[in-house]
Amino acid sequence: MMKEIEVIGVDIGQEGEGIAKTDSGYTVFVPYLLPGESAYIALLEQGAHFGKGEILELKTESKLRQKALCPVYYECGGCQLQHLSYQGQLQWKEKKVKDSLTRLAGINAPQVSPIIGMETPWYYRNRGQFVIGEENGTLRWGFFTSKTHKVVSFKECPIHHRYLNEAMQDLIPQLSGLHSFFEGDGTLRHVSVRCGVNTEEVLATLVTTEPLGQSNTLDCSKIKRAVGLVENINKTKSSKILGEKEKTLCGRPYLEEKLMGLRYLISSQSFFQNNTEQTEKLYQKVLQYAKPKGKRILDLYSGIGSISLALAKEALDVVGIEIVKAAVRDAKANAKLNGIENVRFHTLDVADAFKQEKTPPDVLVMDPPRKGIEKRVLADVLKLTPQTIVYVSCNPDTLARDLRILKEKYELIEATPIDVFPQTTHVETVVLLSRVDK
Ligand SMILES: C[S@@+](CC[C@H](N)C(=O)[O-])C[C@H]1O[C@@H](n2cnc3c(N)ncnc32)[C@H](O)[C@@H]1O
Repeated sequence: MMKEIEVIGVDIGQEGEGIAKTDSGYTVFVPYLLPGESAYIALLEQGAHFGKGEILELKTESKLRQKALCPVYYECGGCQLQHLSYQGQLQWKEKKVKDSLTRLAGINAPQVSPIIGMETPWYYRNRGQFVIGEENGTLRWGFFTSKTHKVVSFKECPIHHRYLNEAMQDLIPQLSGLHSFFEGDGTLRHVSVRCGVNTEEVLATLVTTEPLGQSNTLDCSKIKRAVGLVENINKTKSSKILGEKEKTLCGRPYLEEKLMGLRYLISSQSFFQNNTEQTEKLYQKVLQYAKPKGKRILDLYSGIGSISLALAKEALDVVGIEIVKAAVRDAKANAKLNGIENVRFHTLDVADAFKQEKTPPDVLVMDPPRKGIEKRVLADVLKLTPQTIVYVSCNPDTLARDLRILKEKYELIEATPIDVFPQTTHVETVVLLSRVDK
């Protein structure tokens, strides 16, 4: 028989789930329970060390609880913290960064500045990758639910920029006649759509299992702000959204964005930070920490060169290292577009970066993906020992793991969390490290 018990929320986990304790100190994971709240829950699973439960009744509600803005929030799983006020989200993220640096990196009383949040933490994402579903022969767009392979669809998503919502509302009717790969017998898998928030440009990429061929009558002019429509073929069974092969169906295969007084060309496969407004604040912090004037800078994981170019305006020279060919192509085009000549970009795995760059730069900038930096790369950094490191991280846990290694020769001067992903559990952190000369 299902057990009913009383618990108190003590923290929030990686996926936004409440972490709760019983009277006897037993830990139970309870979705949507907030710290400080007490609740009657159904204990659905009971293991030796922890269990899983579901709220039956909230006995006391946190002052930080709020009504979710999105009508499908509890089904969708795309964001995890809409039930927590924005002030509560910022407090929790700042604490998470502090905790990771203290517990996982083993840094005593780390210097963490107040988190930099957004004034309006909605409609911010500049890229959406929506699943295409189908109901009674009509196409719909949305996300897979967090638990099942069902599509939750909506008219608009309140964390995606309104340019993306409007483009999707225009594009979906143009696709009638085509069918969903996931919920029909068709070829349409996803639409990946991106916007230049400061340029009002939209680029949409249709991901299909087969080329559209004759059935393509798509017209960019019917999609608000669209400068291009690209077809991307993904025949695989994997959960990876984009395939390798692309063809431009109309317009151009890239969009332009303006940031930090620079122009950037971004093609559909390249990485670009998801929140334009917060990215500007993030890059300002990188500049403040790097103090690039007259310095030689190595930028690892350089993407389309956005950080490299922002630094190059003041630096003596900058070298960017990035593994994705298309991103390096964009980075070189971006340098040209902005008339910046003191920067070089190499298509390389960072693991090979130090074969190319043997003299230590004055400043090393590293902005790795969520999984953090490989141990052998950290070992190379400890051999090269540049004076200053600016580490940009989108995952406090891997950041802390890497800092525990770099601590051998570096001290943390300051860390600044930046909320680039409101309504989700993610947080970006910029860290300044300085070599300890013994
Ligand atoms: C978080 S993004 C940072 C991009 C860029 N700094 C920016 O602000 O837009 C991480 C980048 O690292 C690249 N990357 C991932 N693994 C890599 C590796 N082993 N070597 C070089 N680049 C890599 C990805 O392609 C991606 O562009």
